[in-house]
Amino acid sequence: MTLMDKIKETAAFLQDKGISAPEFGLILGSGLGELAEEVENAIVVDYADIPNWGRSTVVGHAGKLVYGDLAGRKVLALQGRFHFYEGNPMEVVTFPVRVMKALGATGIIVTNAAGGIEFGPGSLMLISDHINLTGQHPLIGENLDEFGPRFPDMSDAYTGAYRARARKVAAELELELQEGVYLGVTGPSYETPAEIRAFRTLGASAVGMSTVPEVIVAAHSGLKVLGISAITNFAAGFQEELNHEEVVEVTQGIKENFKNFVKAVLAEL
Ligand code: HPA
Repeated sequence: MTLMDKIKETAAFLQDKGISAPEFGLILGSGLGELAEEVENAIVVDYADIPNWGRSTVVGHAGKLVYGDLAGRKVLALQGRFHFYEGNPMEVVTFPVRVMKALGATGIIVTNAAGGIEFGPGSLMLISDHINLTGQHPLIGENLDEFGPRFPDMSDAYTGAYRARARKVAAELELELQEGVYLGVTGPSYETPAEIRAFRTLGASAVGMSTVPEVIVAAHSGLKVLGISAITNFAAGFQEELNHEEVVEVTQGIKENFKNFVKAVLAEL
């Protein structure tokens, strides 16, 4: 089956379940999936039941798709994403974004946990841009002309108009919101201190193991993007040691702010 056939098959499967017209896709990163529990009139589908869909194996990722109303918008939320480091091909990592587009979404909100280079643990960072250091590219292979051009423009991948609204909402909520560049790697190891020093020189504000592939595919297809990082730790070299438990724990502390912020922004997009 071609990628296009798979996208159509999965979109048709979800439409049959009543997932007809999402306005926004929501990709919820490590520990941030709880927001999907606030979706009203929810239709919930287990990843395991969805054709052509990947499997989520990371602690803190539930592996469910939730469709319904959030902050007055129709959203399709992913509780748990697919990472390249889990062994998923880039086609699988980015497949949900293709399906969101095929179902008619106009924008996506992509969230993640990230290590802070410019900002410390507990910060919320609006992603202004990214640096792809995964050594991979999700659009390699035949171009899907129905979605976008062979050589897509990435100048405004993190949609400026969305960021402006997000800043306004943060000010109204009196929430401190940082803004910076997300540098994407594959993981699964955390970085070395030398890598982090190099990334800082390159202009990175934060580093993480997701988001970049999904945003490239979103930008290719003309989906607008709002990216938010929850900074869970100082990146390597700025603190003694790094572990996933800390990432999940710090996320617990940020998540109330995070949920309120995302809902308030959604209402404004
Ligand atoms: N590095 C990469 N990914 C991460 C980190 C980090 O320090 N923290 C959370 N996700």
